[in-house]
Amino acid sequence: MIRRAVTAAAPTRAVVDRFVAGETTADALRVATELVGAGCRVTLDHLGEDVTVPAEAALTVDAYTELLGALADAGLADRVEVSLKLSSLGQALDEELAAGNAARICAAAHAAGTTVTLDAEDHTTTDSTLRVLARLRERWPSVGAVLQAYLRRSEDDCRALAGPGSRVRLCKGAYAEPDVVAFSTAAEIRDNFMRCAEVLLTGRGYPMFATHDPVLIALVTDRIRAAGRGVGEVEFQMLHGVRPDEQRRLVDTGHIVRIYVPYGTQWYGYLMRRLAERPANAAFFLRALIGR
Ligand code: FDA
Repeated sequence: MIRRAVTAAAPTRAVVDRFVAGETTADALRVATELVGAGCRVTLDHLGEDVTVPAEAALTVDAYTELLGALADAGLADRVEVSLKLSSLGQALDEELAAGNAARICAAAHAAGTTVTLDAEDHTTTDSTLRVLARLRERWPSVGAVLQAYLRRSEDDCRALAGPGSRVRLCKGAYAEPDVVAFSTAAEIRDNFMRCAEVLLTGRGYPMFATHDPVLIALVTDRIRAAGRGVGEVEFQMLHGVRPDEQRRLVDTGHIVRIYVPYGTQWYGYLMRRLAERPANAAFFLRALIGR
């Protein structure tokens, strides 16, 4: 019902537009160009998840291939990479199918001169995603992983992925997970984020800290110096539309800042996770929906 209402109503469209670049490759390129012009790097996500029909997964591969060709043509490939969800490539149907589809996208990214990062989804997919990552990294060592600080296992996963050439995006995690696998309080999640950050910063890979949390940004900034890393050896990452002032401040203080920009027609699941993260967003959304 909400999906239908949002699609139909212009005011709620504005809420979608705050977080999502638009529906087409051209929309994604436009927003990426603006952000690169403002000194940021970008990772583009073609929205879609939980695909269970091989033909739909093939369409996802086509969308990324088109995007990567357009990035190369526009001369953006040194600043703009792509993020992808294995569930949009058929992971729930068959890990082999998703791995083959992801390999096609990695080959297209390599040809375009850019990199790929595999998003992290709910905990039931973590083992499979890390298996596929390991296979992709044999051919394309720059393929990045996402690890979620709310998962109890992530400190070990960080250790396993902190070697030379490895790229790891550390985020808190966005799915509803059971206590047996995940920390649930804000304090526990922050503590584990910092334990994971320490492993990545003292390791030999390239850490990417994906958070808008001012407490974590301050702690990580201190630890970057203490770990003897320069500002160019670490990235901060944030979502399109979230804390743009902080994005600007980090760029102005010399940090590498990459903005995660989703685009495409399948924005519903993504938008619902962003609204769930912050009650103020949900209130803004509901006011727009009822026209007040
Ligand atoms: P927290 O939620 O505590 O937010 C801190 C502050 O940031 C808030 O007080 C508010 O000011 C602001 N803020 C945060 N979210 C906001 C929102 N939606 N709207 C407006 N303001 C907001 N998750 C996952 O499970 N798998 C993945 O692959 C990824 N990938 C990913 C990439 C990138 C680049 C980012 C930044 C995040 C992800 N995430 C993710 C999402 C992540 O797990 C997490 O859900 C969100 O980043 C929110 O957590 P914060 O660390 O920002 O802290």
